[in-house]
Amino acid sequence: MQVRTDSASSPAPRKPQVPRHVAIIMDGNGRWARKRGLPRLAGHKVGVERIQKVLETLGPRGVEYVTLFAFSTENWNRPSEEVQGIMALLHEALERQTKSLHEKNVRVVHLGKVDRLSPDLREGVAHAQRLTIHNTGITLNVAFDYGGRDEILEAVRRIIREGVLPEVVDEALFSRYLYTAHSPDPDLIIRTGGELRISNFLLWQSAYSEYYHTPTLWPDLDAAELERALEAFGRRQRRFGTVAKEE
Ligand code: IPE
Ligand code: IPE
Ligand code: MG
Repeated sequence: MQVRTDSASSPAPRKPQVPRHVAIIMDGNGRWARKRGLPRLAGHKVGVERIQKVLETLGPRGVEYVTLFAFSTENWNRPSEEVQGIMALLHEALERQTKSLHEKNVRVVHLGKVDRLSPDLREGVAHAQRLTIHNTGITLNVAFDYGGRDEILEAVRRIIREGVLPEVVDEALFSRYLYTAHSPDPDLIIRTGGELRISNFLLWQSAYSEYYHTPTLWPDLDAAELERALEAFGRRQRRFGTVAKEE
């Protein structure tokens, strides 16, 4: 639990706050493609290319964790051609980008289930994680076959399996059983593509996240839009259930 201990006797000048952890629901690939008369997969392909830009923009701004929602536990219900295409794109992206992410000191962490991924893809994910595990730069969490409800149920199962006593289960302990055990809660959640919903993303971790929505489709997201999201975040007053601090 986060306890606010700011002392009222030290009125520090207000610094523009930078989110330590930005999580993004990368939505709108299909519509981007449809608008151009292209197959949906073309949108996913361009979507993958945007990821590099996002890291290049957020890293220098002081963001330490970036979580990208790439494939949900519900996305398996799409036509199998699209699902297979997305799997192939992830595999390709891992093969192409793991080395350069490593050179940029990025730590790559997968959030989600691995048992439904093909052995090749599983190995690609494991390799990216192994290679970058000691990197000290930005942490890139890739939520792939990720669902917030699934994550909570997995945590509950492990807690029971390990015989953890009910008395010691608190918020801090529970958080350590989630896929995000290594990350602070997201400060800012951005959703592209115009929908105003959470779609099973970081249900536990987003308890006090700030939201930013934009109609911009994910493949069109640029640095300027990300800057707008950061600016909007800088203007938010986070209260965590307390009363507003005096200016
Ligand atoms: C987001 O884009 C990517 C995934 C969910 C895999 P969509 O594929 O959902 O694009 P729209 O929402 O149909 O435009
Ligand atoms: C959310 O997008 C999941 C990802 C971006 C990976 P969806 O397109 O699956 O969400 P819904 O179906 O519009 O809620
Ligand atoms: Mg969508």
